[in-house]
Amino acid sequence: MRDLGVFAEVAPSETPASQLASAKGVIISGGPASVYDPGSPHIDPRLLRLGAPVLGICYGQQLMAHLLGGQVEKGERGEYGFAQLDLRARDLQAEDSLFRGIAGPQQVWMSHRDLVAAPPPGFQVVASTPTCRVAAMSAPDRRLYGVQFHPEVVHTPSGREILSNFVFGICGCVRDWNPAGQIESLEAQIRETAAGRNVFFFVSGGVDSTVAFTLCLKSLGSQRVHGAYVDTGLMRQGETDFVRANFAALGASGFQVVDAAPQFLPALEQAIEPEHKRRVIGEEFVRVQQRILETEHFLDGNWILGQGTIYPDTIESGGTAKADLIKTHHNRVAGIQKIIDEGRLIEPLSSFYKDEVRALGRQLGISSALLDRHPFPGPGLAIRCLCGAVEAPPVKSKDGWELPIRSVGVQGDSRTYRAVLAIDDFPSSMEEAALLVNRNEGVNRVVVAVRAAARISEMRAHPARLTRQRLARLRHADAVVRRLSHDSGFDSQVWQFPVVLIPFGTADCPDSVVLRPIDSVDGMTASVVRAPEELLQRTAAELCRLEGVAGVFYDVTNKPPATIEWE
Ligand code: XMP
Repeated sequence: MRDLGVFAEVAPSETPASQLASAKGVIISGGPASVYDPGSPHIDPRLLRLGAPVLGICYGQQLMAHLLGGQVEKGERGEYGFAQLDLRARDLQAEDSLFRGIAGPQQVWMSHRDLVAAPPPGFQVVASTPTCRVAAMSAPDRRLYGVQFHPEVVHTPSGREILSNFVFGICGCVRDWNPAGQIESLEAQIRETAAGRNVFFFVSGGVDSTVAFTLCLKSLGSQRVHGAYVDTGLMRQGETDFVRANFAALGASGFQVVDAAPQFLPALEQAIEPEHKRRVIGEEFVRVQQRILETEHFLDGNWILGQGTIYPDTIESGGTAKADLIKTHHNRVAGIQKIIDEGRLIEPLSSFYKDEVRALGRQLGISSALLDRHPFPGPGLAIRCLCGAVEAPPVKSKDGWELPIRSVGVQGDSRTYRAVLAIDDFPSSMEEAALLVNRNEGVNRVVVAVRAAARISEMRAHPARLTRQRLARLRHADAVVRRLSHDSGFDSQVWQFPVVLIPFGTADCPDSVVLRPIDSVDGMTASVVRAPEELLQRTAAELCRLEGVAGVFYDVTNKPPATIEWE
């Protein structure tokens, strides 16, 4: 809706209808539940009698049918993928139709188990597919609409038109939402919240904290806005200089780099497992932040804390009761908790989505080199530099070699920590990698051996720690990959491209590099992207020339069953 230029908010499904009385329209979203599951999301049924148009999508349509006396059938296998939608002729013209102006049969994207077998009394079936009779239903006189397919995904080419018909034609909304046009009012709000006090930020160099910082900077002036950037020693090559240059270009005189590598690296010396590393890093962050709070006197009443919280963060932290992912903020600094408890907090981006934050950033003159960067995890290179305690050979299995290197995966609802299967050639399809994972118990990830200084049977996993030498090795490898994928344009085809160092190699060259380019929408799921062969070979050859690198592998596992990061 916001992409169409109409202001929209996300509310918990159970929100009482009375609170939505002023809405021009309501969309009940999709979701994986069945209306027959105990505890599945529900709505206040009075919502369907409010008089405002309601559109149910997927589960939303099923819930609408269920509540109004239609029949929902429990699906055993479900339907996932493209389908051909046949439309009723009347609905191609009628003003109150979702399908107005859409020509003929349409490709749509389906993803559902249950389906509506019979619409509620008073509803008409307005579109069907060969396998789903009630692909769309409506009761225009009651302003109620449902679709089983997903108009919001790119695989439904006419989806944008369908949603436009709903929001403009049926709800009568007008374009009223333009994030980039709100800078002046955001700045005024910042001045009001700050009320004469100064603002300090812990900035990460990422998009959100940089845009939030810049808004405050423009609003209050550089004397009143302070940004502390903690260099943990786990950054990528050139990262700290890049961030420093960006803040200098913004005119941020109150920007400070805190060199905390001498604190983080010794603390991580004994850490081998991913969660241990994350815990140590979290604890060290707490120490550094507390120190900065005290030395800069941010705890006195003259300062408030600025944060780059964006809209999805507020939803995930419990804004809606049924949100699948709840982020926990463990390791919160006591001093910061106190500031938050006292309400000395300013979050200028809390009602914006990521794309809108980028639009604001562009308007504020922040460089696209910063705004369009791939996401990068907070714990930095630490969780891409795998460690180990034992020496072990790979084990031959009928599908390839099981490497004694453990990485994290997601299978079912839980995380796994298992070995990696190495194979010789790229599988014919990426689904084949999932089959290999299913067939090889004890494995959650599959890699292709692209290039190696020795035969896999001659290579070994070695005891390895998070040393300065290995971090430097990974930093070099990551810089090589970034340079080549940027020069070839490949980096614009991927959502994220982790480069991972694994302690698997020869006596002379103890490590190997894993390439992990993936495509994703939000990081919750991911699919493998295959690099052009020529680029891959050039990259592998250059990586194998680096000190200490024995081989190059290519991760061919989607998420699930593997995670994007290896740790
Ligand atoms: P996974 O590996 O869970 O990653 O598939 C999903 C997305 O989250 C990022 N990620 C992190 N980001 N701190 C962060 O700030 C972390 O500890 C962390 N772990 C994973 C990852 O880069 C990917 O974009």
